[in-house]
Amino acid sequence: MLSKENNLLLCSVGPGTPAGQLFRSMWLPAMLSSQLPDRVGTPVRLKLLGEELVAFRDGEGKVGIVQSQCAHRLAPLFLGRVEPQGIRCPYHGWLYDSTGQCLEIPSEPSGTVCRNMKIKAYQTTEKADIVWVYMGEGAPPALPQFPWIDLPKDQRMASVWLQESNWFQGVEGEVDSSHVSILHKSKSQKDVATMVHQKYTFLDPTPKLFTHDTPVGFLSIARRRADERFYWRLTQWMLPMFSLVPSAVWPIGGRAWIPIDDENTYTWDFSYSLDQPIPPAFLHTVLDGMLFPPAADYGRIRLNTGSVIETWIPRRRADNDYLIDRRQQAEDWEVTGIYGINDQDRSVQEGMGRISDRPRERLVAADLTVVTARRKVLEAIKSPESIAQFRRLIEDGSVYACNPVDTVLDTDDLQVFLQQVGIQ
Ligand code: FES
Ligand SMILES: [Fe+2]
Repeated sequence: MLSKENNLLLCSVGPGTPAGQLFRSMWLPAMLSSQLPDRVGTPVRLKLLGEELVAFRDGEGKVGIVQSQCAHRLAPLFLGRVEPQGIRCPYHGWLYDSTGQCLEIPSEPSGTVCRNMKIKAYQTTEKADIVWVYMGEGAPPALPQFPWIDLPKDQRMASVWLQESNWFQGVEGEVDSSHVSILHKSKSQKDVATMVHQKYTFLDPTPKLFTHDTPVGFLSIARRRADERFYWRLTQWMLPMFSLVPSAVWPIGGRAWIPIDDENTYTWDFSYSLDQPIPPAFLHTVLDGMLFPPAADYGRIRLNTGSVIETWIPRRRADNDYLIDRRQQAEDWEVTGIYGINDQDRSVQEGMGRISDRPRERLVAADLTVVTARRKVLEAIKSPESIAQFRRLIEDGSVYACNPVDTVLDTDDLQVFLQQVGIQ
């Protein structure tokens, strides 16, 4: 059982909180580059780690992510005009560049006040069609070297959407393998499941499960009988909230949960194929909303915490009961009656409440990976030194250069399996 104090530690991400410090020690995906397609176009409101921000692309194509309010009298910069040199406040015309430096105060032509005026701005970079942001102090580490990050454009795709719960509920769903054969068991997803898993998953419903600590997280491993051999599936989980999930036929999947604030989250999906373009059949399934991302519309939303942001908003949401189909639910296979895999995940994760009251849970043996993820984050944030140690570990990004595994081998031995797939 998780204590009230530890639950709060896991879930609080604002400035000065331990989990917030962990997130602020690395580059985070902030938005898709396509959300700011034009130089000097429309700005975008975003919120990260409890901080209200506005993003814009200046005349040289550089993305600025700055505090949402003007330094002068706190007018919303989102309503301002993006100009070649930066964003201009609509109220009295103060102009800021992408570093937050004030460049012009129309009422103070001498320039002295302006030179000393700066708003909060975070370092940004673009890679793999994603705008990354570093919200920490000093020089950032290298970008995490995920296996998808340098692939050609047609071998990877990224998407992002809103989840109306704390970030850690998403993380727990990702590592919780025991829900897969229940929540995601449906006729419509049967074909999807056979593209992600080999047939042995369905022939052997009682896999042997292992977790194995790594420097930056843990491996979640399932071993099943495969005729006379063994079917191994290995999922990577990496602090603070990244995953890489294997696939038998289709592109590999990976996800991340970036806190908007303590009660809302940007869920990211990264799908990639190491040696060929993403197949059209997979794209079709993605567009259909059956997998990740869910069916969603890009637009503006006022969060329950009062902030307004622009992102992809799922069509199946709590206020329409995720469009649950009770007739389907009554049929043998259609357990949930909710359509897409993420819709199903989100329906239960959001339904726990904005911040799940974990002290009230009754955990069982099958929750091993959930408990492991909690332990890993709590260990990483238990002291300023442990956070500094994490920061040293990710300095060159190479700890993220790992792959999930889906393979059939002769061995049933965990250590031999790890050696054969190059992990030890
Ligand atoms: S409030 Fe922005 S210039 Fe006055
Ligand atoms: Fe799930």
